[in-house]
Order: sequence, then C-alpha cells, then structure tokens
Amino acid sequence: MKIHQADLQISAVSPQQYPPAILSEIAFVGRSNVGKSSLVNSLLGRKKLARISSQPGKTQTLNFYLIDQKFRFVDVPGYGYAKVSQQKRQDWGKMIETYLTQRDNLRGVISLIDGRHAPTQLDQQMVDYLKYYQLPLLIVATKTDKIAKGRRQQIKATFKRQLQLGDQDQVVLFSIVEHYGQAEVWQWITEKIS
Ligand code: GTP
Ligand code: MG
Repeated sequence: MKIHQADLQISAVSPQQYPPAILSEIAFVGRSNVGKSSLVNSLLGRKKLARISSQPGKTQTLNFYLIDQKFRFVDVPGYGYAKVSQQKRQDWGKMIETYLTQRDNLRGVISLIDGRHAPTQLDQQMVDYLKYYQLPLLIVATKTDKIAKGRRQQIKATFKRQLQLGDQDQVVLFSIVEHYGQAEVWQWITEKIS
C-alpha cells in the first residue's frame, strides 16, 4: 500500500477526545515493548511517527494516526508492564476496554505477540476477549528475526495451538529488522477497511 500522508491526529484517553467515528480504524494491541509502535511506523514507512523505546511503557494514550484522510491506525498502550502502579494499570485497562468495546468504526484489531516465547496469560486473555466481542483479529508474531531461520515457520502452528485459534485465524510473522510480513499485514488491513 502506498501511503502519502500519515499524521498523529490526537492522543486520547476518554471517548470524548476520540476523533469523529466516521473513518475505519485498525487498532494495535499487545504486551508492553512487543513492538506495536514499531509496526505502525514500519507499515507507514515512517521511522519516527510513533514513538519507540527500548523501555516498556512508552505509549500511554490511545494514539490516533490519520492516514491519507481515509482511515486510522490506533496505537494502544501495552499491557502487562509491571513497573507502573496498580492504579495506572487499572486506568489503562479501562481505557483500552472502553475503546475496544465502544468504537463502532473499529474494523479490526492486530494483536502482537512476541514470537520468541509462548504467549503469556495476558496475551491469551486479550485474544479471548477480542474473540468474545467478535472483533476481526490478526495475530502478528514480532521480533522473529531473533529466532533461527529454521525454527521460524513453526511459530504459526505453535501459536495456533497455544492460543486455541481456529482455522480461520491468521498468524503473520513480522520483523522490522529483516522487513518481512508487511505485505500480509497490509492485505489483511485493506480487506477490513474497504
Ligand atoms: P510500548 O509503547 O511500551 O507498549 O511498546 P511497543 O509495543 O510500542 O514497542 P516499541 O515499538 O516501542 O518497540 C520496543 C522495542 O522492540 C524497540 O527497541 C524496538 O526496536 C524493538 N523491536 C520492535 N519490533 C522489532 C522486530 O521486529 N525485531 C527486533 N529485533 N526488534 C524489534
Ligand atoms: Mg508503543
């Protein structure tokens, strides 16, 4: 997909701050530091649009990126970051839940899971939650460049088994270092927003 324009439209916490619900949105969820902001940048061909950090907990608000005036990406704060207070974690949880359950123009959710490890309990909860609300779901396994080439293809089947996914559920391997996975993710997004 050729992108001409992508800008941060707004960083929001509460629904009153969300942009008008007229354009299709795709949300990116996953554990803190899994690579959500990196994926957003990579898909849009921008290095520094979404802020990236080697420290977890970088993204703390719902960041709405307006793309070519046609659709939006929503970079969601990561879950499971132990170093924030319990109160803050609860507030983030509520913020994420409110967005995912109340946003009528949300067309799909990309759930990022670290491809190097088995999904965590929170990853499983997120997948179950998205399925419960019948939100179209794409699993993206991140940082797979750090896995030996011969072991990469197994990740799809392993994730499908571990997360109890169905035949219709898709898992894509992604790497911002070796630049693979982009075309598959874009294809899924294009289907959902059209
Ligand atoms: P929070 O905003 O804290 O929730 O994190 P995030 O999920 O947005 O992660 P972010 O994109 O900031 O990336 C976290 C770290 O992982 C950074 O140091 C990235 O460079 C690194 N990273 C992301 N994707 C990949 C990948 O595909 N391969 C490798 N090797 N590193 C990656
Ligand atoms: Mg981030």
